[in-house]
Amino acid sequence: MVPRTMRLQVFTLLCATLVFSAAIEVAAGIVPETSRLDSVDQPTFVRHFWSTSDRHHYKLSEDGEVAELVLDEKAAAGFASKTRYLYGRISIQMKVHPGDSAGTVSTFYTSSLSGKHDELDFEFLGNQPGRPYVLQTNVYASGVGDREQRIRLWFDPTEDFHTYEIHWNKEIVIFMVDDTPVRLYKNCEDLGVPYPSRQAMSVFASLWNGEEWATQNGAIKLNWSNAPFVAAYRGYEVEGCEVPWYKGDIDYCRSSLETDSMLKRATMHSLTTRQAARLQWVTENLLVYDYCKDVYRYPTPHPECSRNSGLQVVGPLPLKHLDGLKVLGDSKASQ
Ligand SMILES: *[C@@H]1O[C@H](CO)[C@@H](O)[C@H](O)[C@H]1NC(C)=O
Repeated sequence: MVPRTMRLQVFTLLCATLVFSAAIEVAAGIVPETSRLDSVDQPTFVRHFWSTSDRHHYKLSEDGEVAELVLDEKAAAGFASKTRYLYGRISIQMKVHPGDSAGTVSTFYTSSLSGKHDELDFEFLGNQPGRPYVLQTNVYASGVGDREQRIRLWFDPTEDFHTYEIHWNKEIVIFMVDDTPVRLYKNCEDLGVPYPSRQAMSVFASLWNGEEWATQNGAIKLNWSNAPFVAAYRGYEVEGCEVPWYKGDIDYCRSSLETDSMLKRATMHSLTTRQAARLQWVTENLLVYDYCKDVYRYPTPHPECSRNSGLQVVGPLPLKHLDGLKVLGDSKASQ
């Protein structure tokens, strides 16, 4: 039998060799950026993310496949991806804090973290008991945001895990909840509208105190007697064009044929009839705020608004495509 210390040494050596040879392969250009360096046999959250939160605020399950973020009076919490991407499909399952979550914001998003940053957001705005969460999406490009949309969901996001997914390619950003598109944001650079196409983005999740704005415009504050607040994450998947930190070059991801075919396979570029019907249903039934319709903030709608409108199905909605969608409760969502 091999002594334990020796097996450990062998294992360590093996890991070091793997990492070293992977580094050589990348440096030598043998492995394209889109390849799966992450195939090293590590738990998902260890392989993809790091966190500066302590172990009381960032908790990993024993198998490393479920992460919990914890918000209490001492600290907020978050995690960030170890690498960056330019274009791809980024997906996670999330379950947010039940009961009184007013003032909290639980997020899953991508950001370039630069001065004039690009960012694609899912933000759950907590609410009072009995009132549904509001799911806000937002898009920043070249440092300009202010493109919020808010919906209620057709299920209770505190009861179970659901999938939140961002499809991001040269033509379009599609925000998906389970199999339903909830928002389109098309590339309108031809109309002079910035689009996230020039900066690699990392992937983030966070849970923090947003009581200044999150619930009914900040009227309802966070109640610390309900802390700790917890948001749980699992099932992370990413298929994207990787832009490693040590190699700031994004040209490969912008122009290579290999990336193009990866994006064609991994991301959605347009909606099927079923998806268009579901998006229209969400837009007509669950949309509680849309910057495109906010004439107080924007007397002249943004130029991209008409192009991004989800209303693509003309006539009555084909019911066969709407199974599983129903409005949750009838209480008005917070604004
Ligand atoms: C805060 O939560 C506690 C426990 O749920 C409750 O008793 C109290 O009334 C709440 N405070 C406010 C200001 O709502």
